[in-house]
Amino acid sequence: MVIETVGVVGCGLMGSGIAEVAAKAGFDVVVREVSDELIEGGRDRIRKSLDRAVERGKLTEADRDAAWSRLRFSTDLSDLADRHLVIEAIIEEIAAKNELFSALNDLCGPETIFASNTSSLTITDMAAASGRVDRVVGLHFFNPVPVMQLVEVVRTIATSDEAFDAVYAFAEALGKKPITAKDNSGFVVNLLLVPYLLDAIRQLERGVASVEDIDRAMMLGLGYPMGPFALCDFVGIDTVYRISEIMFDEYRESRYAPPPLLKRMVSMGRFGRKTGKGFYDWSGDRPVSVPL
Ligand code: CAA
Repeated sequence: MVIETVGVVGCGLMGSGIAEVAAKAGFDVVVREVSDELIEGGRDRIRKSLDRAVERGKLTEADRDAAWSRLRFSTDLSDLADRHLVIEAIIEEIAAKNELFSALNDLCGPETIFASNTSSLTITDMAAASGRVDRVVGLHFFNPVPVMQLVEVVRTIATSDEAFDAVYAFAEALGKKPITAKDNSGFVVNLLLVPYLLDAIRQLERGVASVEDIDRAMMLGLGYPMGPFALCDFVGIDTVYRISEIMFDEYRESRYAPPPLLKRMVSMGRFGRKTGKGFYDWSGDRPVSVPL
């Protein structure tokens, strides 16, 4: 099976990035959000990102216009009925994802493959609820989607070779460098990244060093583009918390347990860059760490 038409459900940070790279790669894309307001936000984000790519000389104006013309936006789930592949990038809640796939199963033809951009839930649970166990695949992108080369392509014990191969080829057609992962919570990257981020917070709680110095140490000592606290703010404190809760629930290992400071930050609405404040205050020209 060759994928030519794509649906993206959810047009937040990840969904808009996925829709953008798919449209740039020549796919016909329908993006679905639940309200006109959310569609406006997603459409703006994609347009700005495409315009920025033109300004930086990475995309010609003609290619930007062609990509833009391949994108359609809708609040109606049935506009995804004719898609070869539907990728969900909605809230990280299993009940919401199961409900979505079950509704899509009634709307889409039997050939349509469903993919989830989940970062920590298991694809098996969604496949079981979808009504088409052999055609559900994990397709995990990284933020910022237009920049990060990796995509984790995940198969369950029930995924057919046909569906897996089609989605793997799709990831390559996006210009990404896919890897294959088994369906375990966190796949490969988050399995290793999440304990690292949580450990950095635990060391901060212990008073080992300041936020800036821990970040500087990991950047300059290991050549990472961002230190763990800047990365937490970038991914979203609420997202890191949610992922760690899901992974702790799955493995019951203390290294996935959310540290108290992370919980307190979520309660205070300090979600990182998206709310202006997390471990750093992002409102100025450069991030400044805030008292915690
Ligand atoms: N969209 C498109 N392009 C972007 C972008 C965006 N949102 N943000 C940055 N870029 C591009 C810039 O245009 C620039 O491209 P050129 O060099 O070709 O001009 C390049 O990326 C570098 O950007 P900047 O010079 O502005 O800034 P930088 O050098 O600090 O890089 C960064 C920014 C790419 C985000 C870099 O800091 C980085 O790689 N950080 C780590 C990101 C990371 O680890 N992501 C994974 C998070 S985990 C996850 O997503 C999965 C999960 O499940 C939690």
